[in-house]
Amino acid sequence: MASSSENGYHPTGSEAGTATLPRVCVIGAGSSGITAIKALSERGIPFDCFEASDEIGGNWVFANRNGMSAAYRDLFINVSRERMSYSDFPMPDSYPDFPHHTHIAEYFNAYVEHFGLRERITFQTRVKHAGRRADGVWEIELDGGERRLYDALMVANGHHWDARWPEPRFPGSEDFQGTQLHAHSYVDSSIFTGKDAVILGMGNSAMDIAVEASYVAANTYLAARRGAWIIPKYVFGKPLDQLPNDPRVPFAIRQRVIHQTIKTLTGPPERYGLPKPDHKFGEAHPTVSGRILDRIAHGTITPKPNIDRLEGDRVRFLDGSDAHADVVVYCTGYKISFPFFDDDFLAAPENHIELFRRVFHPDIPGLYFIGLVQPLGAIMPIAEVQGAWVADHLCGEYTLPAPSELRRDISSEQNRMRKRYVASKRHTIQVDAVDYVYGLQKERAAGAERARVGGFQLPIPARAEQVTAAS
Ligand SMILES: Cc1cc2nc3c(=O)[nH]c(=O)nc-3n(C[C@H](O)[C@H](O)[C@H](O)COP(=O)(O)OP(=O)(O)OC[C@H]3O[C@@H](n4cnc5c(N)ncnc54)[C@H](O)[C@@H]3O)c2cc1C
Ligand SMILES: NC(=O)c1ccc[n+]([C@@H]2O[C@H](COP(=O)([O-])OP(=O)(O)OC[C@H]3O[C@@H](n4cnc5c(N)ncnc54)[C@H](OP(=O)(O)O)[C@@H]3O)[C@@H](O)[C@H]2O)c1
Repeated sequence: MASSSENGYHPTGSEAGTATLPRVCVIGAGSSGITAIKALSERGIPFDCFEASDEIGGNWVFANRNGMSAAYRDLFINVSRERMSYSDFPMPDSYPDFPHHTHIAEYFNAYVEHFGLRERITFQTRVKHAGRRADGVWEIELDGGERRLYDALMVANGHHWDARWPEPRFPGSEDFQGTQLHAHSYVDSSIFTGKDAVILGMGNSAMDIAVEASYVAANTYLAARRGAWIIPKYVFGKPLDQLPNDPRVPFAIRQRVIHQTIKTLTGPPERYGLPKPDHKFGEAHPTVSGRILDRIAHGTITPKPNIDRLEGDRVRFLDGSDAHADVVVYCTGYKISFPFFDDDFLAAPENHIELFRRVFHPDIPGLYFIGLVQPLGAIMPIAEVQGAWVADHLCGEYTLPAPSELRRDISSEQNRMRKRYVASKRHTIQVDAVDYVYGLQKERAAGAERARVGGFQLPIPARAEQVTAAS
């Protein structure tokens, strides 16, 4: 690899000639992609950002023309706005604590305007294929057929758009006489008016959709294969996620405090007829709802165990009971998908993908993932730090640990996750937002020191431009 003096690199990225820095392709301009390109742009790293839609914001663009948004008409965030803001661009004080999706989309647009990022995005351009050549250069094929070469690839394509239906499908589902849909295509409660609805799942989609159904449906059943601790949006008059949460305090202690708080405030979920959770708070992705228990308490939602089978126009549950159903909504989660990679190059079977701190691929240099986390907390501040971290790396200011250390770190993270979380495909990329960001900042500092000792070497040679010019 060229030394910093050979390639003319000066370690303060913005002062370096961009010709010497690797050229980056960024896939996606959702909330993860936009903060990643801000970091690249601030360090003068050359990039192209391709966005399939005609708008930024991904999931937060209701009826997004990319067909990938899961936002429904009455979607409100479940992490408070203070926790969901980027660190240098708070959401306006005029916003409520838990804003509507239109506010969130407006916020991301304001971010892009403020930092002058819009003109850096190529809209209505889907990355169709991404392949890494033997010389390490990335060959990117766009949906119009054009091919471009890059030194590095940042993937920010989101992971809540490829619907996971129950696997296997329930017996009788092919012949069911009502409507079956996945939460991803749910738009509003008009589909439930006067109907009998069965909502399956105990995640946040199931909570929201069951509550919406309960106002207009004749009957709403909430079916679940596992219980969950229902986390209220507020405790003691404050958003719960704004309670003290110091990552230096052992997680077990913080977990006990929140678990006890929830138990004290709401009592056990079984009290409402919901399944008894087989885990403690913090051992499953949080299910947040300020309304579900109320609606159950009013008799407008009837809890049920998992679906056993569909029988004509009825749903039979595992306890042997059954109910007439016009609509069944499967709120059964999402698959992590990278349709632009060949399967034998990289995939995430069963949502499993091993990455160093959820960003760096241990065996594929020049490949980074932004926002590929399922946090206790919000994705945006995490994506912001991840983008800055990769940008540090690309301009030689952060050096990765040795490969053996990367592997050790990945496997100890996997072990930690296996021990802590309920075994489920939804728990393969879990992080605690506050702890994760704290750990990443420590790792960035350690890697900055390694970079200094190593003489600020560029990790990825900037070749793509010469190859393009020569071909
Ligand atoms: C119903 C729902 C509610 C949620 N609520 C919250 C919440 O309250 N708080 C929270 O933190 N998270 C929430 N999430 C999680 C959600 O994933 C994040 O809020 C956020 O959308 C992640 O942003 P992203 O940029 O990683 O992905 P996305 O928002 O999915 O954006 C990905 C972008 O990449 C583009 N793209 C994808 N593939 C390609 C391609 N091949 N070529 C070009 N462009 C491409 C897409 O067009 C899209 O614009 C929620 C998720 C769902 C489903
Ligand atoms: N208002 C909001 O902010 C909001 C609203 C909706 C969604 N979201 C976010 O969007 C993301 C996705 O949430 P989600 O609720 O759609 O999915 P999810 O969190 O993955 O939850 C899926 C649920 O379906 C269950 N399930 C999966 N397969 C099943 C099967 N075959 N049979 C029975 N049950 C099955 C899971 O149970 P197990 O636990 O047993 O696997 C789990 O309860 C999360 O990050 C969530 O926080 C946020």
